[in-house]
Amino acid sequence: DKQKRVRNFSIIAHIDHGKSTLADRLIERTGLLTEREMQEQVLDNMDLERERGITIKLQTIRLVYKAKDGQEYILNLIDTPGHVDFNYEVSRSLAACEGALLVVDAAQGIEAQTLANVYLAVDQDLEIIPVINKIDLPSARPEEIKNEIEEVIGLDCENVPMISAKEGINIEDVLESLVQIIPAPEGDKNAPLKALIFDSYYDSYKGVIAYIRVKEGAIKPGMKIKMMATGKEFEVTEVGIQAPNQVPVDELKAGDVGYVAASIKNVRDARVGDTITDGDNPTDKPLPGYKKVVPMVYCGIYPAEGEDYNSVRDALEKLQVNDASLVFEPEASAALGFGFRCGFLGLLHMEIIQERLEREFNLSIVTTAPSVIYKVKKKDGTELEIQNPTNLPPMTEIDYMEEPIVSASIMSPTDYVGAIMELCQNRRGTFNNMEYIDQTRVVLHYDLPLNEVIYDFFDALKSKTKGYASLDYELKGYERSELVKLDVLINGEVVDAFSIIVHSEKSYERGRHIASKLKEEIPRHLFPIPIQAAIGSKIIARETVKALRKDVLAKCYGGDISRKKKLLQKQKEGKKRMRQIGNVEVPQEAFLAVLKFD
Ligand code: GTP
Repeated sequence: DKQKRVRNFSIIAHIDHGKSTLADRLIERTGLLTEREMQEQVLDNMDLERERGITIKLQTIRLVYKAKDGQEYILNLIDTPGHVDFNYEVSRSLAACEGALLVVDAAQGIEAQTLANVYLAVDQDLEIIPVINKIDLPSARPEEIKNEIEEVIGLDCENVPMISAKEGINIEDVLESLVQIIPAPEGDKNAPLKALIFDSYYDSYKGVIAYIRVKEGAIKPGMKIKMMATGKEFEVTEVGIQAPNQVPVDELKAGDVGYVAASIKNVRDARVGDTITDGDNPTDKPLPGYKKVVPMVYCGIYPAEGEDYNSVRDALEKLQVNDASLVFEPEASAALGFGFRCGFLGLLHMEIIQERLEREFNLSIVTTAPSVIYKVKKKDGTELEIQNPTNLPPMTEIDYMEEPIVSASIMSPTDYVGAIMELCQNRRGTFNNMEYIDQTRVVLHYDLPLNEVIYDFFDALKSKTKGYASLDYELKGYERSELVKLDVLINGEVVDAFSIIVHSEKSYERGRHIASKLKEEIPRHLFPIPIQAAIGSKIIARETVKALRKDVLAKCYGGDISRKKKLLQKQKEGKKRMRQIGNVEVPQEAFLAVLKFD
């Protein structure tokens, strides 16, 4: 029976512990690709991902392995994204598997995401196989890490594969463990169809391609299928396996992993986590765990040039076809003109979309400060959700406000506990507890307001711990909070794009910070420019960009002709990246600069 020789698994790891490198080795060792065909990293197939070294979109690949017992096994490797923003997608990929390889760096040991991923895998009842990677490193401590995994996670490490994915050492051990330890899939092939979508993307020829794990029944072309979350029905045009390109097959049966195409126009109709069933013979209950992911972070995205408005909208639409978690709607700003309010899963997701707009669509954009969703209870009893600070009603109409809180785990060497506590304290964190992993490492548990986390928290944490600390968090809920709206005035005018909502205790500090950053960024004009931060009508910080002296101008324009040309050219380029606010020119960089703490 074919089902007995199928193994469905994921690789989970902390970022940079070598997940993609190991995936490449497994692909190579199972002889699916010739060396020549083998791109540097097959699974990380977007340029951007490769450059940032982060796997964003998950995918699957089917490998064929002849084990030492002489049998051929089908190994379905389901890739998972490596960032907390995409935890839901990770959980769905894991739900498609029976087991997971847990890759741990032999020099770094267990980190926050290692644990977070283990918890996700345990939630799905997966068989977890630890793998110690990077044993070739001089700083590798494989025996210590082995003990760490046994003690902290409680996994048996007696026969743990100790490998170097980079050097290709002991990869066979991993393959044999997969075959021996991970159970074969179960599930009735004759029951009504039940298939889990764990990833989907839009293909311009075939429509949406949904990656699925068939849990029960079978799926084949011509069949009418129904998406259980939306109730929408489609006709299957193709099913197949990814090996490594799409290879159509007659059908996918219980236990199989593969893809399905059904002329679906938008990934929203094939959402990750949804259950596909037979339209004519539906199953009564969907698979557990479906959740519609909602954005946690919002920001305004504006074209740098007003005439690019339509291009930005087209680009966002194109990105959205492939990214069900990206949302946007038109908005207008007095300072920036017409643009879009966009919602993201988290800061990384936001940065990825911004970069893709600039790189893939060649657009020059301006973004406003990221904001979370605040809940506002008004005195008249109505409730509002605010994702754009400019929409906040006047304070006099507000009874109270609530902000989102995350529970965060920070893992770090003990040396930095003091620095981390100080940082969390500073960011309005509430300490919950501290656990010792071993003598040298701890996990600190804090509740933190999300609006503090999105404000440069991760960078601050990294710099305070020389890069050793790692962070994981999830939304805990909403809490009442003393929040105020902080406005920025340039030359007496409120610039809506700079408005933020902050905790009242932090408002002075933030106000001063923004004012001094803007002072650095705004070039001198012929007149002095006051920069003010205000809460309501109360000015809490002030800086002035001094007026340009006449003789400086004279000097600029007095040089030889080529220098002059260069200068003019530079000015022209500079001009393009300036925003006119009243009679003040504000460089686009200023909009970014105010977001960063030093
Ligand atoms: P994300 O995709 O960002 O989650 O990272 P990843 O876990 O997939 O890590 P990746 O495979 O991209 O490896 C991260 C870095 O570690 C790369 O520079 C690899 O070359 C390196 N690396 C991976 N395996 C080994 C190994 O066995 N030994 C050594 N020395 N380096 C390795």
